[in-house]
Amino acid sequence: MDGLPAVEFHNLVKQFGTVLASDHVNLSLAKGEIHALLGENGAGKSTVMCMLSGVYRPTSGEIRMNGTAVKIHSPKDAAKLGIGMVFQNFRLVQTLTAAENVVLGDSSPFWRTRRWMERKTREIEALALRVGLPFAAGRPVARLSVGEQQRVEIVKCLYRGNSVLILDEPTSVLTPAEADQLFATLRKLKSEGKTIILTTHKLKEVMAVADRISVMRKGQMLATLDRAQTSEREIARLMVGQDRSPPKTRVPREPGEPLLIMDKVTVVSDRGRHALDEVSLTLNTGEIVGIAGVAGNGQKELAEVLAGLHVWKSGTITFREFRWKGPSVRGSIKQGIAHVPEDRMISGLAGGLGSVDNLLVKSYHSDERANLGFLRTALNRLWSQGLVEQFDVRTAHLDAPVKQMSGGNQQKLLFAREIHQRPHLLIAVHPSQGLDVGATDAVHNLLLGLRAEGRSVLLISEDLDELLLLADRIVVLFAGRVMGEMTHERADREQLGMMMAGVT
Ligand SMILES: Nc1ncnc2c1ncn2[C@@H]1O[C@H](COP(=O)(O)OP(=O)(O)OP(=O)(O)O)[C@@H](O)[C@H]1O
Ligand SMILES: [Mg+2]
Repeated sequence: MDGLPAVEFHNLVKQFGTVLASDHVNLSLAKGEIHALLGENGAGKSTVMCMLSGVYRPTSGEIRMNGTAVKIHSPKDAAKLGIGMVFQNFRLVQTLTAAENVVLGDSSPFWRTRRWMERKTREIEALALRVGLPFAAGRPVARLSVGEQQRVEIVKCLYRGNSVLILDEPTSVLTPAEADQLFATLRKLKSEGKTIILTTHKLKEVMAVADRISVMRKGQMLATLDRAQTSEREIARLMVGQDRSPPKTRVPREPGEPLLIMDKVTVVSDRGRHALDEVSLTLNTGEIVGIAGVAGNGQKELAEVLAGLHVWKSGTITFREFRWKGPSVRGSIKQGIAHVPEDRMISGLAGGLGSVDNLLVKSYHSDERANLGFLRTALNRLWSQGLVEQFDVRTAHLDAPVKQMSGGNQQKLLFAREIHQRPHLLIAVHPSQGLDVGATDAVHNLLLGLRAEGRSVLLISEDLDELLLLADRIVVLFAGRVMGEMTHERADREQLGMMMAGVT
């Protein structure tokens, strides 16, 4: 880490309307380092990264590379300077092969001749293998897993010879094993002299991989710390501006009566295979049951069946002693099942609408919210205001489009809508994904609060720490089957990890 910094930010400002997302930020990135950018939801991390990658143009300030001021007005400018960014929502063309995506934009005149493409495919596969991020380069991107698609994005940056790599929350879509593999690759790239800047909300990951850590709060850069000379506690305190208030602890309590009984339920996925294969599962009142497993092993279908969104082929589902005949979203809601889905911005919230409309989505037809089919507008505003305050949703105003809210606040709004009706069962899918430490604690407290009131939670999560902290029982799904179950007291991380990989 000697010589001039690879990248320097000087008083970088980005203003969105009245929001100062980046407030005179100064930052320097060394050659051959992994630099973690941390901060609460909405602190300005993505904004800063997007200015480096040319997605946003700074309002004012300067970026220097190797000591010289540079103009980055577009992603193309950034690419010319050797800067590449891997976004959270990948920008790959689904119908093209992985290799075609990698060479897209390559100006070679041989582009499209078959032999050239075959040679490139082999070359790209070799490059991917060399850095430890293999994928089938000849396959259409649509047929790759999310983790593999991320690999394609990273290899694309490397193929172009980029020396600065920006990764915005790369691990939020990865399983623990995939995340470890990514870190091994990043260390290797660092040893080859690349500069890597990344964000994550998982402090453990930061301590494992970063050389230096910069912390932002409310658009301002607070400090840059050496990983070796700091602690998770110090970082967390910097991020939130105070010591973290300890999350509620889980008090032991006896589970109540069976609430949900699934008996040998089989679900056929959209692709025709058995997504759930004779799954039997019982959930009692006042219990948090965790579902562990690598994504794609039936968790999504399990949540969808219970939310009334998916048919099942065989087996029986009994909820509050009522045997279900078929899927019904209305029916599930009526029986007291709430659902916080995996992708809050696709299936949970309507991004263009404000908080009031989003809160009303599930109850607009109730007598409380509407009179003879007309919404009780003034009353509903007041009601929304109350929920927003109660759940500590921070939004500019009640009608501000929810897509402008930070991830943590979107999630709190969704929780407000789903649990204010006091559901018997809450299905929470990756509820803390993308949330900062404080917002994660808030979500965990909400779940424990439901449990304390005798309500039940089905917690689907890939985060073993979260499951070990909250769940009374952890059930592992693998290839659509129940691999095993562990009680809170007996739960063992290693054994869970083995079951998640299909080993009994
Ligand atoms: N395109 C935009 N238009 C208006 N406001 C925006 C826009 N992008 C970001 N903001 C606002 O700028 C602030 C910083 O947002 P940013 O996305 O950079 O935060 P972040 O630190 O990446 O948060 P998170 O951890 O949730 O990803 C937020 O208040 C956000 O609402
Ligand atoms: Mg962000």
